[in-house]
Amino acid sequence: MTPMTIAHLSDFHLSAEHRRSHIRRARRALDYVKTLNVDHIVVTGDITANGYPADYRIARSLFASAGLLDSDKLTVTIGNHDVFGGVHTAEEVLTFPNHCKATDDKAKVREFGCGFRETFEHTLRHSEKRCFPFAKVIGDVALIGVNTVAAHSRFKNPIGSNGGVDDRSFALLVELLESPLLHAKRKIIALHHHFCRMRDVRPGTMHSVWGAIESQTMKLHGKSRLLKLFAGTNVEMVLHGHVHESNEYSRNGVRFLNAGGSVLHDRNPDLHINIIRVSDAGVQAEIHRIPVESVSLLRNESLPDVPVAIEAHHEAA
Ligand SMILES: [Fe+2]
Ligand SMILES: [Fe+2]
Repeated sequence: MTPMTIAHLSDFHLSAEHRRSHIRRARRALDYVKTLNVDHIVVTGDITANGYPADYRIARSLFASAGLLDSDKLTVTIGNHDVFGGVHTAEEVLTFPNHCKATDDKAKVREFGCGFRETFEHTLRHSEKRCFPFAKVIGDVALIGVNTVAAHSRFKNPIGSNGGVDDRSFALLVELLESPLLHAKRKIIALHHHFCRMRDVRPGTMHSVWGAIESQTMKLHGKSRLLKLFAGTNVEMVLHGHVHESNEYSRNGVRFLNAGGSVLHDRNPDLHINIIRVSDAGVQAEIHRIPVESVSLLRNESLPDVPVAIEAHHEAA
């Protein structure tokens, strides 16, 4: 096969209103990736902080200024923040569960599809109007994008951060992974939620009250059937974010790579960029670390304004 290099990033949490430093950090990460001459970039969700039109405008400008608003160069998947948003002020802690309950998650998925419409061009999917799941074939590699953001549920997903794949989307994913079109391809999955146990990622914190709350609100429901499907369809690696750490691990023989710490690592101010090399020798992953000092050296240049039309011409996924 022709070897292929992929940069994997995640969780930019871009916002027009809050924490503008995220924009500079994401920009520095993309600038670094540019120096590596990679073949493709994958960003696995929580690209925006709240999924507002102004947030999409910033995300589009960021990608456009790096020359990435192009399906051949960039693949994106959706995260819980792109659908339900997040808490930014003390007052929002109390109102957030009601905000999640009132969110039209299907409409938010459509908005995500419109916000990054160029990246969904030339993808294989059930219908033009449905963004997820999709497969994008680039040379010998098939990137398969999955929406793992679960619908709001008072008990199972009260603040929108838990994950899940509904039965219809799961059936479409099975169809895609078993498609003869992908038969000879090297399959790499891109989704948002993690498959590792929180207690393994953050040992020690699980005994605290916060740790217990976090483990209940950072879950992917239906993990086993996804694991079984990935193992049975020769998926070579699953890329994700959500937990703001950067690490590689395996579950049931399936390899996972987390880029949640690319720009907002929970325990380290440096940027972390995952680089994946797919070749006849297999799939190799390494995590490049960029010192935080080089982020503050970046000038605060303004980004070009790239219009975004959030219209409803995608079905929910
Ligand atoms: Fe995140
Ligand atoms: Fe997330």
